[in-house]
Amino acid sequence: MNKPSCIDFFNKIGIRKPRFTRSEYVEHQQRFGSDWMTKIDLAGEGLSGKNMEEFYKVKNSSLDYAIAINSLYYYDFYRQFLEICERRKQLFGDRILDLGCDIGITTCFYAWMNPESQVFGIDIIKESTLRAQELANRLSLKNVKFECASLDEFEGTGFDTVVSTAFVHEAIGVKSIASEVDLYKSLTKLAQHTWRYMSDSGVYISCERLVDDMTVFTWIDTLRSVGFGIDSSHCGVIKWKEMNEQSEFRLVLAKNDLAFGNADIDILCKALRIKRPDKHGIGLLLAGQ
Ligand SMILES: C[S@@+](CC[C@H](N)C(=O)[O-])C[C@H]1O[C@@H](n2cnc3c(N)ncnc32)[C@H](O)[C@@H]1O
Repeated sequence: MNKPSCIDFFNKIGIRKPRFTRSEYVEHQQRFGSDWMTKIDLAGEGLSGKNMEEFYKVKNSSLDYAIAINSLYYYDFYRQFLEICERRKQLFGDRILDLGCDIGITTCFYAWMNPESQVFGIDIIKESTLRAQELANRLSLKNVKFECASLDEFEGTGFDTVVSTAFVHEAIGVKSIASEVDLYKSLTKLAQHTWRYMSDSGVYISCERLVDDMTVFTWIDTLRSVGFGIDSSHCGVIKWKEMNEQSEFRLVLAKNDLAFGNADIDILCKALRIKRPDKHGIGLLLAGQ
């Protein structure tokens, strides 16, 4: 039987399933120096606050180191999500945009899987887009480009497919969200920018760490409020193992087509495994139900 192509892709770029063994630890020590784990742990403290940039500068100091660290944390997520992308290849159009692309693992996979498409990745950290370009060069991909830009700076438009993975919680700065109103405002801004990039018939695939039911339906609600419709038949939950912890990401498919806006709320909540919001919940989600 043929291997799934995302595994071929992993093999090509050196993404490996982590074993968490002593021999793996020693192998990383030999490749990246004795402080390979401590330096990322220390830099990781910045992730919870202002110093996100420092974390990515350390992690993305070299492509191989970044690939090793991403494999350690994200292998199981990449495997599950990219297999879904393979199975739903029809969602990927001629122009594809990856928001918050980091070192371009997902971006390069979309380009590799869709050689006829033009793929763009944007990230706010310069080191990340430089490493992403290196990864594309390693794979001899000619159909992918990267730009160092935040969401409000990026001027591209007309994308048929926009994708974001593990992006929203960092882009809104979860720790700085003090209230539901802040959450609503920040997510609305993100949704507005994303909508601006889309072609008339574009789809937005968001696969995100949304911490609780309130955040999930606020995200759905803000997407709808800016003009997206939600296609519940492509929504779901990805349960994956992040180091030794269980994580859950919500997969939401939004179309630049409000006709999908009236998707049955119970079906949507079931797909996303959240409780149906009560009448005090965010209003738009319930509008017209
Ligand atoms: C957890 S990483 C996820 C990377 C990638 N999507 C993946 O799944 O491998 C989040 C990325 O979002 C980027 N980011 C955060 N806020 C951003 C913003 N406002 N504009 C562009 N990129 C941003 C970070 O620099 C980081 O690379």
